[in-house]
Amino acid sequence: MTIAMPDDFHVHLRDGVMLEGIVSHTAASFARAIVMPNLKPPIATTEEARLYRDRILAVAPGFTPLMTLYLTDRTVPDEVNRAKDSGFIHGIKLYPSGATTNSESGVHDLEKLYPVLARMEQMDLPLLVHGEVTDTSVDVFDREKVFLDRHLKQLPRTFPGLRIVFEHITTREAASFVMQSPKNVAATITPHHLLLNRNSMFRGGIRPHNYCLPVLKREEDRVALLDAATSGNQKFFAGTDSAPHERSTKENSCGCAGIYNAHAAVELYAEAFEEVGKLDRLESFLSHHGADFYKLPRNKSTIRLAKKTQTVPDYYDFGGQKVVPMRAGETISWSIERDS
Ligand code: DOR
Ligand code: ZN
Repeated sequence: MTIAMPDDFHVHLRDGVMLEGIVSHTAASFARAIVMPNLKPPIATTEEARLYRDRILAVAPGFTPLMTLYLTDRTVPDEVNRAKDSGFIHGIKLYPSGATTNSESGVHDLEKLYPVLARMEQMDLPLLVHGEVTDTSVDVFDREKVFLDRHLKQLPRTFPGLRIVFEHITTREAASFVMQSPKNVAATITPHHLLLNRNSMFRGGIRPHNYCLPVLKREEDRVALLDAATSGNQKFFAGTDSAPHERSTKENSCGCAGIYNAHAAVELYAEAFEEVGKLDRLESFLSHHGADFYKLPRNKSTIRLAKKTQTVPDYYDFGGQKVVPMRAGETISWSIERDS
């Protein structure tokens, strides 16, 4: 199967010694990627994004990182203009403070940032949302649904012109909210949320490498996400949320959230689409819908996918840091054919 080169509209590339190995995986299958800003410290200004982008380009010439800024309580409206004017920043990411990995600098009270969102609406810079409440009285499996009711539903009404990406959706409710919203509200879906349900975290014992946030949900949610992704609806597109963590920080009494899938994300999406007999919709999900939503040209280059089994290594070594990938030690039924 030959398809236009995909883009990844949500990825964590990290920094430092890990960066080169991680970007090389993403760049092998994706022409461009929306790069998450949750470094420590976060990428909160246009200048920080420019330097991070340079570090990425230094190890991956030819790949196009689409940079984002991290919305903090201190973000000012004029930063939106600087970001938009840079030409290389394509969105601003909202992390509710404490919701996930490196979200400590995130937002405490979204309403206080409405002037920033108004400027984003005016400048046509998308808002990318990690949609989970952090209220510890809310069950961890309900945090996305509650965020949707408490916060997200208001946003398109308050800012009707703002483009909003509901990132890595995990529930039936989120998928149907996006379907019913105006066309400037879209969502990314990860390969792991299409292929796994929450049982996979407990198969024969605790499986830390299947722990991510938002946490995997029920089978009925997985089926609803698969329906949405394969529906042909332009509001849904690929965002892998590939999130590498060094092995010892996952295999730990307080293991980090994040699933690493950049080594084979396209192949994993192919498996998911094949499961429901919708391979004919794979290209638009991977290569068209996201580019159109972000107002980017579609890629002209192509990649070739073959129904050929590959075995995933137990780990990858990125500059001395071991990362256990999705399906480690197991097989994936698709491969990318590379000209060598
Ligand atoms: O599982 C996750 N890992 N979810 C996120 O939102 C962040 C990410 C990370 O940076 O590790
Ligand atoms: Zn993420």
